Amino acid sequence: MTPEQNDVLTSVGAGTRMGELLRRYWFPIAASSELPAGSSKPVKVLGESLVLFRTTAGKLGLIAERCRHRGSSLRCGHIDDEGISCPYHGWKYDASGKCLSMPAEAVQKPALLKRATTAAYPAEELGGLVFAYLGPQPSPLLPRYDLFVMDNVIRDIGYAMIPCNWLQIMENSVDPTHVEWLHGHHMAEQRKKQQLPVPTHYARHHTRIGFDLFEYGIVKRRVLEGGSENDDDWKVGHPLIFPCTLRVGTQGQHRFQIRVPVDDTHTLHFWYSCYQPAEGKTAPPQESIPMYEVPWLDADGNFLTDFVDGGDIMAWVTQGPVAERSPEMLTSSDKGIVLYRQLLLDQADQVDSGRDPMGVIRCAQTNSRIDFSQEKNKFRSGASFLREAIEMSHVRYSPMKQQIIELLGNA
Ligand code: FES
Ligand SMILES: [Fe+2]
Repeated sequence: MTPEQNDVLTSVGAGTRMGELLRRYWFPIAASSELPAGSSKPVKVLGESLVLFRTTAGKLGLIAERCRHRGSSLRCGHIDDEGISCPYHGWKYDASGKCLSMPAEAVQKPALLKRATTAAYPAEELGGLVFAYLGPQPSPLLPRYDLFVMDNVIRDIGYAMIPCNWLQIMENSVDPTHVEWLHGHHMAEQRKKQQLPVPTHYARHHTRIGFDLFEYGIVKRRVLEGGSENDDDWKVGHPLIFPCTLRVGTQGQHRFQIRVPVDDTHTLHFWYSCYQPAEGKTAPPQESIPMYEVPWLDADGNFLTDFVDGGDIMAWVTQGPVAERSPEMLTSSDKGIVLYRQLLLDQADQVDSGRDPMGVIRCAQTNSRIDFSQEKNKFRSGASFLREAIEMSHVRYSPMKQQIIELLGNA
């Protein structure tokens, strides 16, 4: 791959090939629980600096962070039932980006107010997340993926800001063999040094990997040493939901790893999890879904690689702010990565020719609920894997950890 080809695949700004493709999809930008009425949050997505706010009347707004007047940030803006006012001279904008008032002007001239209209994007909520759509109108529907709408579960949302390009993170989702090394051998070594229990399921050798395109992305499959194609890991597999989500889990744990391109060198990573109670139990009602930060550096600035996700983050970040791809050596185990890169380019072609790329939903009936399959017996490990999947993953940082263990019952 040439450096120019790498630029095409990695850049997310408006007008770039991937920037235009990614703008056809909704991306989560915050948790609903972060945004009570009358509050705001600066957010950056696809290279655009924005401010997300909720009026005192409960309406969500997502507009350019920079004030149209003389450029101060609206992040500290005053919010009322109509919109957000710039802290500098009080120009007020509503959720559609319309300028409602310029307090220092004796007369509010409609033409002047109109000229001060700022960029605004749709923001919608589902399953405890706030999503943004930065693409052309009409907006597609916000996908009602199963985990966002299923009943009888408790949820939590982990997040981390990762200082690297989104593509190297997504490539990890079609890279099954890293699991045996990074999460098997490497993590075991790190944990041994700390006299922590070592993982028992991750280090098994891959004897076969496979990838299939489906309507919403790529299904990833593996056969592990001693196993067969009848195992869930091959027969069921789990999907990369195009463009930026991985679905993973086992038994009562179901998870989306959603990678939001913030700009070319930063990615906001969400771990959106649903925990299902053991057979016959009922999940307690949840008023709001907690959000927690997943750390990946220790106090001395060293990578935390004694848990699965910390190992992944170390691998992604050390590939560089934007991984150089010209010097890489792709081998047969990288066929999923080649498939994903090609899919990105193919879908960008779709956009160029005026069509919706894969997974864009405009039919309400299709969108009533979109289910994905995922292994129930991952690594043929049954229930014994559940505890490891909690203690050795980002879940160890969840404020709900104890509740999750109790809910899963047999963990
Ligand atoms: S800079 Fe925002 S009102 Fe003046
Ligand atoms: Fe991983």
